[in-house]
Amino acid sequence: SVIHEFKGISQLEKTLEKMLNVEKVIILPGNSAEDGLVLKDMGKITSASLKKIIKDNCIIGITGGNTMASVAEEMIPGKIADNVLVIPARGGLGKDVETQANSIAAKLAQKLGGNYKLLHVPDSLEKEALEVIRKIEDVKESIDFINKMNILVFGIGRADTMAERRNLPKEKIDALTKDGAVAEAFGHYFDIKGREIWEYLTVGLTIEKYKEIDHVIGVAGGEEKAEAIIAVSSLRKKMTIVTDEEAAKKIIEIV
Ligand code: BG6
Repeated sequence: SVIHEFKGISQLEKTLEKMLNVEKVIILPGNSAEDGLVLKDMGKITSASLKKIIKDNCIIGITGGNTMASVAEEMIPGKIADNVLVIPARGGLGKDVETQANSIAAKLAQKLGGNYKLLHVPDSLEKEALEVIRKIEDVKESIDFINKMNILVFGIGRADTMAERRNLPKEKIDALTKDGAVAEAFGHYFDIKGREIWEYLTVGLTIEKYKEIDHVIGVAGGEEKAEAIIAVSSLRKKMTIVTDEEAAKKIIEIV
C-alpha cells in the first residue's frame, strides 16, 4: 500500500541520517538518473525546502547542473521575502546555457521575485589570469557576496563525470581517480572520506566558507552517485541531503 511504501521511505531516511551523520535526509522514491519525473520530484521537494528557510535580505548560492536546473524549474513562483539575492556559488561558464549556474541563479531569482548577480569567470584558469580577474571590481563584489552567503543549494557529482564534463585532460582524470577522488561539488574534488583531492582554479566558494554557511542543501540521485554523496556528507553534519531511493539503497550497501 501507499502508506506502507511511505513508511519504508521514512525509515530509509532515518537510517541514512545516521549512516551519513547529517541532520536531514529526504528520499524520493525511484531513480532520478533514469526517470525524469523523479528528477522533477527532487527539484520540487528541494525548492519547497528552500522556500521554508528564505528570509529577508538573504543571499542564496546555487551551482549548475541538471539537478539544480530542476530545482529552479520546479520552484513555485512567488515572493516570500524582501531583498533576496541569488548568486552562482562558483565561476564557470559551462557550454550548455540551460545548466549553467548563472542561468539557474537568474531563473531562481525571478521565481522568488528577488535579484541576481551573475559571475562571468571561466571554469578553469591559469594562476596569473586568476590573480588579474580577482581584482576586477565586479568579480570582487561577487566574491564578497559568496562570502556572505546564508543558504547554499548545490548539486553533487561524480569526480570522473564532472572532470570529463569540464574537459579536463585524460591524464588529469586518471590522476584524480588514482588519488581516490569520487566526488565533485562546487568545483572541489573529494575522496570518499571527504578529503579534498583537487580544486580547479576559479573564483568561488571555499571549503572553509562552505562549513560556515547557515543552511546547506545538497541534491543528488542515482546509484552511480552513492560514493559522491557519502564523500560530501562527511564535510559537515548540519546539512540536508535530498536524494532518491536508488542512491539511498546503494549507500547502505557501501557504508
Ligand atoms: C555542476 C556543479 O554544475 O553540477 C557541480 O558545478 C555538480 O558541482 C554538478 O557536481 C552536478 O551535475 P548534475 O547534472 O549531475 O546535477
